[in-house]
This record gives sequence, structure tokens and C-alpha cells, in this order.
Amino acid sequence: MTAVTLKNVSKVFPGDTLAVDSLSMDVNHGEFLVLLGPSGCGKSTVLRMVAGLETPSDGDILLDGQYANDLPPRERNAAMIFQTFALYPHMSVGDNIGFPLKLGKKNGAHSVPEAVGDMAGALGISDLIDRKPNQLSGGQQQRVAMGRALVRRPKLFLMDEPLSNLDIGLRAELRTEISSLVRRHDATTLYVTHDQTEALTMADRVAVLRKGVLQDVGTPDEVYERPATMYVAAFLGTPRMNLLEARVNVFLDRYVALDFGDQELRLPWHDLRGRAVARYHGENIVVGMRAEALAPVAEGQPGQSIQGRVRFYEHHGHETLVFLDIGATAIIPDGIGDKPDLARSGSKPRRRLTGLFSGFGQPSTERREVDTGPIRKSADLVFRLPPHIPIATGQPITTAVHMDALHYFDKFGKRIDVGWTQRALGVSDPASPDTTRHPYARTRPRGPSLRKGPSVTSGDLGFRKRSR
Ligand SMILES: Nc1ncnc2c1ncn2[C@@H]1O[C@H](COP(=O)(O)OP(=O)(O)OP(=O)(O)O)[C@@H](O)[C@H]1O
Ligand SMILES: [Mg+2]
Repeated sequence: MTAVTLKNVSKVFPGDTLAVDSLSMDVNHGEFLVLLGPSGCGKSTVLRMVAGLETPSDGDILLDGQYANDLPPRERNAAMIFQTFALYPHMSVGDNIGFPLKLGKKNGAHSVPEAVGDMAGALGISDLIDRKPNQLSGGQQQRVAMGRALVRRPKLFLMDEPLSNLDIGLRAELRTEISSLVRRHDATTLYVTHDQTEALTMADRVAVLRKGVLQDVGTPDEVYERPATMYVAAFLGTPRMNLLEARVNVFLDRYVALDFGDQELRLPWHDLRGRAVARYHGENIVVGMRAEALAPVAEGQPGQSIQGRVRFYEHHGHETLVFLDIGATAIIPDGIGDKPDLARSGSKPRRRLTGLFSGFGQPSTERREVDTGPIRKSADLVFRLPPHIPIATGQPITTAVHMDALHYFDKFGKRIDVGWTQRALGVSDPASPDTTRHPYARTRPRGPSLRKGPSVTSGDLGFRKRSR
């Protein structure tokens, strides 16, 4: 097992493309760390630098604490698996798997046929051992590629979207297989993907990258339940977290109101979360609500709730997603992508704002249309209904809001910590029922938890650089 450390690593490609921007993170011994981010954010570049296929423009790469910037790839004892699995077409499955061993990289006391047989058995492809790659399905080919990488028992696995060429069913199957296989081999794994499901289901820890800048690192539960930035909040989770613009109004000794325009939610004054949010009195913040924080109730029920009318809905078989017009404004961080619901919702044309929130909440004349920045648009509050519940466009619905499950972000997109960290840290909090557990809740033991929120920085979008 190899521990990987990146210290302020940057990569600038010719033409001044800053692919990776001062990235600092660790992959611990035996850990499965998933590097997650959208296309072009620099994931493969990070992986290639760790493999030794690219040299950092700045910063240090350490392998087991040793400076490794100049170490040739073959001396890093790392195996790389790519999205396109290049098998030798003229060789059988067995010969493909055994090839690295025949090159002299022996696998302990095992003979080559024995090692190949063991590996094929572990991958469930023993009966395919004499076939050629062109006689295999995509999933079988990827298993062979895995076997070829695993057979020499590398200390470090570097995987670049190994499942993205496969169909959804096969991806789900191989997700489980890959993570259990590499764990059995006691290798450290750095796994790159743009698929949040892969990240949340496979990782010990997830690192979210955006435009070359690290946004957040933590266990799947941590990044899902306490995202360090609004970008991470929006990137993780399906459906996407509702992010609503709210003005904070403090009514001293009574409550703190989150004013969404047509309606408001109230945090009691005695509630410590309310006190934390009260610091933003008179300002606009962003309030995040995942679908699981909302539950339809009969109108007039006591408790905090939001009313709206059904703008549209989507049947997904196991559930129905309902989108409510609530007269509020949604904020969508740049790079998250806007769903094509604008056309359906008849919202005003979207505007992009300068910086993250310059002009946030200000009269529209102060805004400037530019290429980057969050989008403001009429909010479609999304929540879940069980399947087969009759529903119609325009129908009025009231949803109760689980106030414990709200997220708050400041005008720089940074999380406002309201002091409810117990749940995320795994300490039970009987006073607040845990309704925010996400569908990917895991049962197997976690890897080491080294959340590094404070080192998260973002130079663009107006995110304020945090000090290191
Ligand atoms: N050899 C290169 N020369 C110039 N620019 C490059 C080179 N390789 C990558 N880039 C640029 O660096 C940025 C990051 O690329 P990278 O391949 O690391 O992204 P990625 O996150 O892996 O994306 P994807 O999910 O699409 O694979 C992109 O803007 C890309 O165009
Ligand atoms: Mg890539």
C-alpha cells in the first residue's frame, strides 16, 4: 500500500490552460479515494501526475512520504486502468491477464498459470480464459483489464473512469466488484469519475474537484450531509438539492425569518442554528433543502411548511419527483448545468451574474451578463412522492420542511456552519431525528476520516480563497 500526498500541486498546459490549481490532498494507506468532478475539471491530469505520466508545473507529489515528482512511472509500483481498456487482441484472456507476470514482474511464489487462474476466479471469468478479447462483452473485457492490472499486486491503483463505457446495469455490478477486489488486495486506490453514484457508493473518501480547484474532501456522508460549498451541495445528490435565495430577517427574542419572497420559514430564537444565521440579518443567503427534507402534509398542519402549485412532475417508477412553483428564486452554481425545465416552467430567461453573488439580491440593473457565475431563476422546489399517487399540474401542495436538514450558504457559496455537526460525525443526536441519511447510506466500515474542509479553495466564481 502506498500513501499519496499532493502538496500545492498545479499543472499548466501549453496555451496557459490551468488544469490543476494548487491541489493539496492525501490518499492514505489502503484508502479508496474517489476524485469526483465534471468533465474538464482536471481529474485525469491529477491521476496522470500521480502515475508519473505528467510532471507537475508546481508543487510536490510524495509517495509514502518520499518526493516523487521525478520518479519514473515504472518505479512507482502503480497500476493504471483507463476508460478504454486496451487488451492485446491476439492474446487469450489468460495470456492478457498473465502478461505483466511474463514481463518479469513476478507475483510472489505463484506460478503464472496459478496466479492467472486465481485472478480469473476472483473476477468470475474462469470459463472465458481461452477466449480472445473480441469474443467478450464490454463488461467482460473490463474485468480482464482489471485482472491484468491486479495480477502483479500493485501497491497503488489509479483508475480513470473505468466504468464509463459500460451500460448502467453492468456499472452497478462492477462497482461492487471493483471496490471489494481492490480492498482484498490491500492496495491504495485513487479512482476518477464524474459519476456521483460511483463516488458515494465506492469511496472511503470523496474529493470534489471543480475547474482544477479542490472544493471538498470527506467521507461520502460528510460531503453529502455537510457540503463545504454550494457547488458540492448541488453536484451531489439526485434530485439536485433545492438552493433557494432567502433574505434573513431577525425578530429579536422571537425568531429568525428566512424570507423566500412569497413565503418564509422561521427558526426559533432559542435555536442555536437561528443564532448562527442571524448574523446575516438584512442579507441574502442561500438555503439548501434536499428532497428528503420535504414531505407533503395536509394544509394547516402545525410546523414549518412551504406551499406551492405543481409546475410539473416526473414518474421514475419507484418514485415521482414533483416540482412546485413556490414564488421563490433558485440559485444554480456555475458548472452545475441547468436542467431543461426552464422551457417547461416558463421562467424568465436566465441571467448569469458576475462573481458568485455580485448583484445577488440587488436590482437587476446592477447585474451584468457574463459567461460564468451562478444562475438565478424561478425556483421549482423538488420533492419526492411515492409512485401512483394521483397528481396534476397546477395542484396546490403543502410540504412540511425538516428544519434540521437545511443547509445554509453565504454569498460566496461557502457553507454557513450552524453548529449541527454531531450527525455528520456519527454522534447520535436524539433531539433531531436523522431524516437526512441519503439513499447511499453505507453499512460497511468507513475508511479514515480526514475531512479537510478548511483547505478548500476556489479562486474563481468569486469564492473567497480560504487560507491554508
Ligand atoms: N495535454 C494537454 N494539453 C493541453 N491541455 C490539456 C492537456 N490535457 C488536458 N488538458 C486540459 O486540461 C483540462 C483538464 O483536463 P483533464 O483531462 O484532466 O480533465 P478531466 O476532469 O479528466 O475531464 P474528463 O472527465 O472529460 O475526462 C482541460 O481543460 C483539458 O482541455
Ligand atoms: Mg478524464
